[in-house]
Formats: sequence, C-alpha cells, structure tokens
Amino acid sequence: MPRLCYPKCSLVRIMGWLQLVLGGFVIIVSLCCLFAFYSAGLYLHNDDISRHFDHAKDVYDGFDVKTLADRVEEVLEKMESLQNKLESAVQKMEKQKGEPGGSISRLEFKRYLEEEVIKPLYGAHIALRQIRLPKAEWIRNTTFKEEPLINYFVTEEIRKYITPKGNKNGKINIFGAKGIYNTIGHACVLMKKELEDYMDYDISSFCNDDWNLAQKLMLHGCDPLPRRRCLTRASKLYLKPYPINESLWKIPDGRNVRWSNYKCRNFECLSSKNPQRGYTKCSGCFEMEKEKLKWVQTSSLPVDFLIDEVLAIKPGEMRIGLDYSVGTGTFAARMREHNVTIISTALNLGAPFNEMIALRGLIPLYITPNQRLPFFDNTMDLIHTTAFMDGWMDLLLMDFMLFDWDRVLRPGGLLWIDKFFCSRSDLDDYMYMLLQFRYKKHKWVVSPKSKDEVYLSALLEKPPRSL
Ligand SMILES: *[C@@H]1O[C@H](CO)[C@@H](O)[C@H](O)[C@H]1NC(C)=O
Ligand SMILES: *[C@@H]1O[C@H](CO)[C@@H](O)[C@H](O)[C@H]1NC(C)=O
Ligand SMILES: *[C@@H]1O[C@H](CO)[C@@H](O)[C@H](O)[C@H]1NC(C)=O
Repeated sequence: MPRLCYPKCSLVRIMGWLQLVLGGFVIIVSLCCLFAFYSAGLYLHNDDISRHFDHAKDVYDGFDVKTLADRVEEVLEKMESLQNKLESAVQKMEKQKGEPGGSISRLEFKRYLEEEVIKPLYGAHIALRQIRLPKAEWIRNTTFKEEPLINYFVTEEIRKYITPKGNKNGKINIFGAKGIYNTIGHACVLMKKELEDYMDYDISSFCNDDWNLAQKLMLHGCDPLPRRRCLTRASKLYLKPYPINESLWKIPDGRNVRWSNYKCRNFECLSSKNPQRGYTKCSGCFEMEKEKLKWVQTSSLPVDFLIDEVLAIKPGEMRIGLDYSVGTGTFAARMREHNVTIISTALNLGAPFNEMIALRGLIPLYITPNQRLPFFDNTMDLIHTTAFMDGWMDLLLMDFMLFDWDRVLRPGGLLWIDKFFCSRSDLDDYMYMLLQFRYKKHKWVVSPKSKDEVYLSALLEKPPRSL
C-alpha cells in the first residue's frame, strides 16, 4: 500500500533534513559562543591569549558580553527543545508503525510542521540574527566603543531604534557628531565620565557654566538628561526684552545673552561675513535684512514656496505648528503675523539660537533629533522643516522621524518639506520615504542645486485615518 506509506515515509525524510538544518544552526551558535567567550577571555589557556585579552579588554569595555551570552543561551534552549520534540515525535511514530490508524493525514502533518517545527525554528533563526557581534575591524581599532544595552533587548524594533545611525557621508554632522543616537537614555552609560562631571555640583548653589557639556551629552544620546538641583547662571545684566511689536524683527540686545561658551561675544560678531563666528549652519540667520526676505519674497527657484501660497491652501485652518529647522525663528515670526503659533526647534550649535528665538518673542523648543516629539498624536496643523534634514541623514533615522511627525500632525494638517537637498543618486530613496505616507500632494518640486545635488520641496497633506 504505497499511498498509505506516503505521509510516514516523507515525514521521516523531512525529520532527517530538519535535524541536519538544526545541526547546522547549532554549529553556528557554538561558533558564535566560542568567539564571544574567547574574546571575553573566558577561555584563557596561555599567555598569548591572555595578552590578546588584555589588549581586547579596551575594545570590549562597554560591549555587553553578558547579554550576548544570554541571547545565545536563549537560542540554544529553543533549538534543544525543538530537537527533543522532533525526536520524541519520531519515536512515537516508530511505535505506532503497523497499528491501525497509525498514520497521520496530510493536514495534520502540515499543521504539525507549521506549529511545532517552523514556528520555533523561525524564532530561533530571528534570535540568532539579532545577535550583534563586534565587527572584526572594531576589534583592531581599540578606540571603538560598542554601544551599550542593545543586546539587552530582544524586540527587533527597539534594537533598530537605539542602534546609532551613522551619517551617510561618514562625516561629522551639523550637531558635531558622527551619527544620531536615537535614545531611550541608554547611551548615558557610554559617557559615564561626562555625565558624572555634569552631575558633580553643590546642591542649591550655582551650577557650573556647562550648558555646552549638557548639550554634548544630549547630542550623543544621553537624552533626556537628568535634572539638577543647582541654580543656572544668567548674563551679568538682563534688560527687559523689547515689546512684541518690535522684538520680532530686531536683533536682540546682546547683554541678554551669556556669551562665555560661544566664540562670539555679541550678535554683530555672528554675521555671516565673519569667518570666526563659530558656527556654520544657517550662516545668515543672525542678519535681519536677509531673514526678512524669507518666505515672502518671490524667488527664481521653484522650490521656494511663499507662506501666503501655503496658507491659502487651507484658509483659516492653520493655527499651531512646529518648525523643525535650524534657524533663529524667522519662520515663526512670519507665521505669527498670520496669527499662526509656531514652535521652533533649536540647538545652540555654536551660536545662541535658543536665546535669539526667545528674545524675539517666539518659542524655542530645545530638543535633539534623538528624541520623540513632546506633542500628543494628531495635534499639529503644520510641520515645516528646512536646513535640518538633508542628504547626510541615515534613511532608517529619517523613517523614524517622519513617522513621528506623522503621529503629531493632525488629519488635514500640512507637512512642508522646504528645500530638502541630497545627491541626485539618493533622491529616489528619500522620495520613497515621503511618498510612503500617501499624503495628498499639494506641491512637489524637484530642482537642481548643483551638478550632483538636487532640491526637493513638497507640501503634503495628511489624510484622515479614521479606523
Ligand atoms: C579607529 O577609530 C578612530 C576614531 O574612531 C579613527 O580615527 C581611526 O581611523 C580608526 N582606525 C582604524 C584602523 O580603523
Ligand atoms: C509698540 O507698542 C508700544 C505700546 O504698545 C508703542 O509705544 C510703540 O511705539 C510700538 N512700537 C512700534 C515700533 O510700533
Ligand atoms: C490676526 O489677528 C488680529 C486680531 O484678531 C487681526 O486684527 C488680524 O487681522 C489678524 N491677521 C491676519 C493676517 O489674519
């Protein structure tokens, strides 16, 4: 009766294959373990290896060997239990051989494979893939520090989120860092020394003049920073700010800024004409004659949209919004004249961006790109971004940011991508990032910036999401 034999025979054959596959897995896992433990110095047989370990210790400083070992252990357990289950199933089938009703139906067989074999195998496979080993070149480079706690988490998305996103061009970005450190605060572990310096103060007395240390910690992923119980220093003389009908378009009084951590000592020095001004991004931003032209003066570039045009798309509907940019609040100032309240993100990148925005009578939001926006879902009428996102940005990072913007934008709200630029060859990738949300396109303009670079400006509307 060859037909009856079919499920049993092929089951046995498949079991054999599975065991082979499992065997392969076990070998890989064992190799991983060996490598990790060897590197961690758990098998020290001779002086050579000890010396290797002493050398490697610097590299592994911060690399979380324990959690790595835990993950490997977890995979091994999964594999072992799977193998036991398969073996006992085969034994059971051997016993039932010849008994009436001893063979299983195709359907049962399929269910068995899916539930009892493929699922746990897939689990083990994923767990194995998630194990991050230090790369060989990192071992050679003793100055490299493994990011802490990534192996502590099992969920792939957390791991993706907190893995630092290196700048695409490999250079230092506008924030003075090699990448963006999306954070759940874990990176404080990496900057123990700096964090300890930061938290080393006398309670209730004056804080050190160290906002730049605080900002450095934040930008490198120790974000949010702990609160402190000391008194922050102000400028020697603080004059009352100009009234709002004057402050929006006037360079503030320099005496209202504490200049000690900047290269410049007054606002005039921040002019783009001064090569020693101490900052590069948004170089004309401290010159009001230049700022006054933005978003109101028709330009020759089709990627320059005017505020009037944009607001005309949704008359009276735009009331509150966010400007995620590098600047001194000019967008918010113009929008204020249209009775729209805009919050402007700002970091003090070599110049007093936050102070300037606040002295103009606008709201600076001191936030790093590491962080989730402090707004609730579906609340903002408008998000505008310029001079911040451009071709340096890692795609996965951009994806996390755009989804966060999408979260806070209300249905019918507008996303204004203002002169985003990147190299021509990357444009498709970045365009996909924006198009994936299926927003309504009010405007979409691509125009050349230079020989290899292009600008993209877009005005997109978030659709209703009534689910
Ligand atoms: C090691 O890392 C440092 C800083 O991260 C870098 O400057 C240096 O070029 C690297 N060396 C090698 C051999 O990769
Ligand atoms: C601003 O308002 C104040 C009083 O509200 C007024 O005295 C002053 O002249 C105004 N300044 C300008 C430039 O309009
Ligand atoms: C803004 O609001 C004020 C007071 O309600 C009003 O007088 C002014 O016309 C409004 N401006 C715009 C551009 O809508």
